[in-house]
Amino acid sequence: MQKVFLNMPTTPKVLIAYTSLTGNTEEAAFLLKKELEKIGAQVDIDELEMLSPRKYLDQDICIVATYSYDSGGEVLPDEAQGFFQELGGLDLTEKVFGVIGSGQDFYEWYCGAVDRFEEQFEKAGARKGAMSMKFEWDISTPEDQTKLLAFATDLIEAYQEKV
Ligand SMILES: Cc1cc2nc3c(=O)[nH]c(=O)nc-3n(C[C@H](O)[C@H](O)[C@H](O)COP(=O)(O)O)c2cc1C
Repeated sequence: MQKVFLNMPTTPKVLIAYTSLTGNTEEAAFLLKKELEKIGAQVDIDELEMLSPRKYLDQDICIVATYSYDSGGEVLPDEAQGFFQELGGLDLTEKVFGVIGSGQDFYEWYCGAVDRFEEQFEKAGARKGAMSMKFEWDISTPEDQTKLLAFATDLIEAYQEKV
């Protein structure tokens, strides 16, 4: 059963920054936007390479959605490098964050970029509002969709604890 947060003192502002090569992460990021809006958030979404993480400074909840590609050394996607570096230098102390990502558990570094972004948000002082969500390929299974809704709800609850 979906929770709707009707009595929030202010509408939480959320930014989802995503990167996706073949569309799996993008699909999940847009589904997450829809779920967050249904439960009462105001959500912006854009491709991570079009954004500076400084845009998180105007938000309450900061989200990254990323795929993982181990091209011989557990590196982040090329287009995520600049965003990632800048993120680590910000002060996001007042912010709640969450990370989701697509991967394939065939790879030893399963959804490794999710873990790296989680560490980077922590370095910036942000507070983890939900367990990071890793999924295989796309987000088509009912189990994954239920997990995504729980992820969205946890983030809003974490935000409410703060205000
Ligand atoms: C060359 C190559 C390397 C990959 N490396 C990893 C990896 O290290 N870890 C992982 O979890 N998935 C890995 N994957 C799987 C992708 O992350 C997966 O296909 C994902 O769904 C792509 O997301 P996207 O559709 O948003 O681009 C790799 C895929 C390819 C083709």
